[in-house]
Amino acid sequence: MDSSRFSGKKIILGVTGCIAAYKSALLVRELVKAGAEVRVVMTPSAARFVAPLTFSTLSCNEVIINIFPGDSSSGTSQNTWHIDLALWADLMIVAPASVNTVAKIAHGFADNALTTLITARRCPLMIVPTADVDMYNYVLTQENLKKIESTGAYILEAEEGELASGLKGKGRLPEIDKILDAVSVVLSSRKKDFSGRKVIVTAGPTYEDIDPVRFIGNRSSGKMGYAIAKAAFLRGAEVTLISGPSSEKPYQEFRLIKVHSASEMEAALRNEITDHDTLIMSAAVADFKPAVKAENKIKKDAKPASIELTENADIVKSLIGLTAGKVIAGFALETENETANALNKLKSKGLDLIALNSAVKEGAGFEHDTNELTLIAKDGSQTAVPMMLKFDAANVILDNVLKVKK
Ligand code: PMT
Repeated sequence: MDSSRFSGKKIILGVTGCIAAYKSALLVRELVKAGAEVRVVMTPSAARFVAPLTFSTLSCNEVIINIFPGDSSSGTSQNTWHIDLALWADLMIVAPASVNTVAKIAHGFADNALTTLITARRCPLMIVPTADVDMYNYVLTQENLKKIESTGAYILEAEEGELASGLKGKGRLPEIDKILDAVSVVLSSRKKDFSGRKVIVTAGPTYEDIDPVRFIGNRSSGKMGYAIAKAAFLRGAEVTLISGPSSEKPYQEFRLIKVHSASEMEAALRNEITDHDTLIMSAAVADFKPAVKAENKIKKDAKPASIELTENADIVKSLIGLTAGKVIAGFALETENETANALNKLKSKGLDLIALNSAVKEGAGFEHDTNELTLIAKDGSQTAVPMMLKFDAANVILDNVLKVKK
């Protein structure tokens, strides 16, 4: 975790009475590790699932549960605590948000410390609802979530999977990393501005087989592409991720198409492109492949003097006839003459936007969690993206994708 990701940010974490409340302890830990100051407010039922001491220890702050002080003779100095704390925060998160609390928030209740803070705050609100599958899908729960969203709050939907009841379905608290990425989106004042858009992202390397056990590949980890796919999803897009071999973990909501070689990636893109409006080509596609793939493992004593190579298709170029009216962004990975090469690729590949990154700069390009980019638009305008987490750089790319007019 980057200790400066949420540096100086003041976050109220509301925890409600769900079994997923135990995972909120990990969320506090990660927010604090990322530099945020966290104040936890629990509903009385949340305190039946997890001891408040867990949260006060992890946040290094008192935990608030009661709206009124326990002893009326000592309470007068605290009578506007809810206003003070609400105004202090840069963000309020409710994770997990139970069906009961979701209903209360939707209807403006202020009957406990948590719901009172929601009504008093001026900062953005992020809700992470969780419940057993039928409670989650209950028509009024869904209506309540829509109502909360219509007030400008960010809803991070539950994930599907096995639930505490043993039932399977939607209702699980998302992975902590996904919640943190959503926090980053909300803190940067971005919203679900990709709602209604269908985005394809390509990621990772391609492997061009020499024989059944060897291949020609490159050092792409998939981190950049997966970060773009995640950011687009959290900003409301429907995401198809076409991924070469990578150990990155996709979101379960992605339509994930795994490919091995450049020709498989090209075939997948040909199938998918007409149904999407945006393509972000961050994969490191091999330009060459062995002319023949040996049927069996080449023996050491065969001592092949050379491997004959043949050119792969330039995938983005080959799609030009199919991409009219769509936004197409590509990358340029360079070691020299960076801007000139990127401009050339922008034009020759018919791109609307190109993200230039360096294969030699420390912290940029392959494998790192960070990247430094220059975004070049079709009209020649440039945006410098200083070294930052790939997820944050992905968001700047997406901001610039939104600026492309078609
Ligand atoms: O995966 P990571 O470890 O996080 O690393 C990220 C990255 C360095 C791979 C990524 O940021 C990046 O630069 N991706 C593009 C790498 C690349 O292939 O660059 P290029 O300059 O060779 O290609 C230019 C563009 O044409 C790219 O959008 C590429 O996807 C596309 N291309 C390239 C070759 C080919 N045969 N067909 C293509 O469509």
